Amino acid sequence: MALPRDASIVLLTGAGISAESGLRTFRDADGLWENHRVEDVATPEAFHRNPALVYRFYNERRRSLPGVQPNAAHRALARLEREWPGDLLLVTQNVDDLHDRAGSRNLVHMHGELLKGRCLACRRVLDWPGDLDADSRCPACRRGQVRPHIVWFGEVPLEMERIYRALERCALFAAVGTSGHVYPAAGFVEAAAPGARTVELNLEPSRVADAFQEHRAGRATDLVPAFVDELLGA
Ligand code: APR
Repeated sequence: MALPRDASIVLLTGAGISAESGLRTFRDADGLWENHRVEDVATPEAFHRNPALVYRFYNERRRSLPGVQPNAAHRALARLEREWPGDLLLVTQNVDDLHDRAGSRNLVHMHGELLKGRCLACRRVLDWPGDLDADSRCPACRRGQVRPHIVWFGEVPLEMERIYRALERCALFAAVGTSGHVYPAAGFVEAAAPGARTVELNLEPSRVADAFQEHRAGRATDLVPAFVDELLGA
């Protein structure tokens, strides 16, 4: 059934949408980093215990970004935002900048951003394209140590009020390339307005697949452009 043209849309993306750009996902076969599980480096405890390891993990990932490009799925979602007459919010769990570079603007990076740092003293969020280490100091307050602007396991994701407000009134919720292992994002499908259409676009059924009305199996670069064409009536 066609969606009314003024209907509001919430989209959720995960690592699967960036996989075909060459960025590794977390829970697929090659998801380990130097034999560490992501959960063992992406926590406040890990940062406290071994800050050098955590800084190195994110420095490596930050350095990989200039070498990768947005793919057809990122571009299709940016096109949908430009051409859809109703409200559209794109929520990503990804800390890469591929949605930004593809042109998405109504975008929430709920797990933070690799290219930013945050001052542990004054809490300012800072653009930080280069390496970070324990000696990195905040250019604003000049005293605080700067940590990666990443939401670690056990921390509260960003902009949750804005996300839930959009979910409560959406007519379509679609999730792309996410395994459904990590909450609260995995619970968004349950928080979508009663009566909203819910669609999962993923390589394989996610852990919360049963909560979606509709499933499309395949690669994001095939599924997402076709889905966007359908929504725009192209
Ligand atoms: N197209 C579509 N889906 C894909 C593709 C692809 N080309 N490649 C992989 N996938 C799917 C996988 O089948 C898997 O279900 O993408 C999903 C990726 O899952 P995860 O690696 O668990 O990534 P994600 O769901 O984003 O992880 C959530 O966990 O470690 C934390 O904070 C990190 O934001 C991350 C969160």
